[in-house]
Amino acid sequence: MSVVDTTKVFKQDIFKGKVLLCSGGGSGICRGMTEAMVKHGATAVIFSRSKDKLEKAAKEMSAKTGGQVLAVAGDVRNPADVENAVKFTVEKFGRIDFLINGAAGNFLAAFDHLSYNAFRTVIEIDLLGTFNLTKAASQYLKKSKGAIINVSATLHYTGTPFQQHAGAAKAAIDALTKHWAVELGPFGVRVNGIAPGPIAATVGMEKLGPAFDLTAVPMQRMGEVQDIAHSTVFLFSEGATYISGVVLVVDGGAWLNPAYPAYPNIVLEPPQFNKL
Ligand code: HXC
Repeated sequence: MSVVDTTKVFKQDIFKGKVLLCSGGGSGICRGMTEAMVKHGATAVIFSRSKDKLEKAAKEMSAKTGGQVLAVAGDVRNPADVENAVKFTVEKFGRIDFLINGAAGNFLAAFDHLSYNAFRTVIEIDLLGTFNLTKAASQYLKKSKGAIINVSATLHYTGTPFQQHAGAAKAAIDALTKHWAVELGPFGVRVNGIAPGPIAATVGMEKLGPAFDLTAVPMQRMGEVQDIAHSTVFLFSEGATYISGVVLVVDGGAWLNPAYPAYPNIVLEPPQFNKL
């Protein structure tokens, strides 16, 4: 993973005593978000399916930051697993201040080759996973007057081909961000989203990257995990205490350019991806 260092912009100890629970925190963007929060004093629990990968990531992050990151394995689709992740976090650290809903699944697939189960799988991981974990954690977030970041995308801002499953899920996640901002606001809980663009060295870009025309990104570069880490620290910080219900697009202006993403011919299969 690329270097994550947000301490040049934000003070080091701003999240001291605070506790983060992050789904999907074992890799990519969410790992960088977690690492940044821990660098600024938070303790963290990362939660996803692959126990070995998760425990390795937790160990590495703890060593790198000098903070404490623990791992709990489970599937965001399973209510018993999300309740267990919340229970684990509260038993270990006594509270939850911040929640990142980042667990996601994706692949490029054309409409004709997207099976019933494939569509449902992505909706379940992304959308139901976000709902499930938030439902399980909400009582603790209310108690701490905490904050939530839902990770979505810009796929649904346009009709991104081969991405209807993820786009539909992310659109609904953006809706939840707004609904929860309104419903949880009176309890002191802020709810925001981050919509990353093309971020280098992530599973998402490995899977989808070859289909995107990166020369069309106005900022003329790929995003870095660091870009998302900065936005995370800001949205959770006291600098953002009156910001709720916002989806912060961190994409170098990419989705605004009609040339991004560019496909040679959208009636064809996405090249080299669809194995069905
Ligand atoms: C078509 C596919 C497919 C593909 C899987 N399926 N891959 N269909 N094209 N390339 C179908 C399967 O055939 C099956 O349908 C159904 O999807 C479920 O697949 P499973 O492998 O049984 O599901 P599961 O083990 O739960 O795995 C979920 C997964 C997997 C999404 C398919 O890739 C995964 O777990 N990924 C997690 C990591 C990840 O993808 N991260 C990227 C996030 S990127 P049938 O009908 O055969 O049963 C991201 C960024 C977006 O979110 C924004 C970027 C700009």
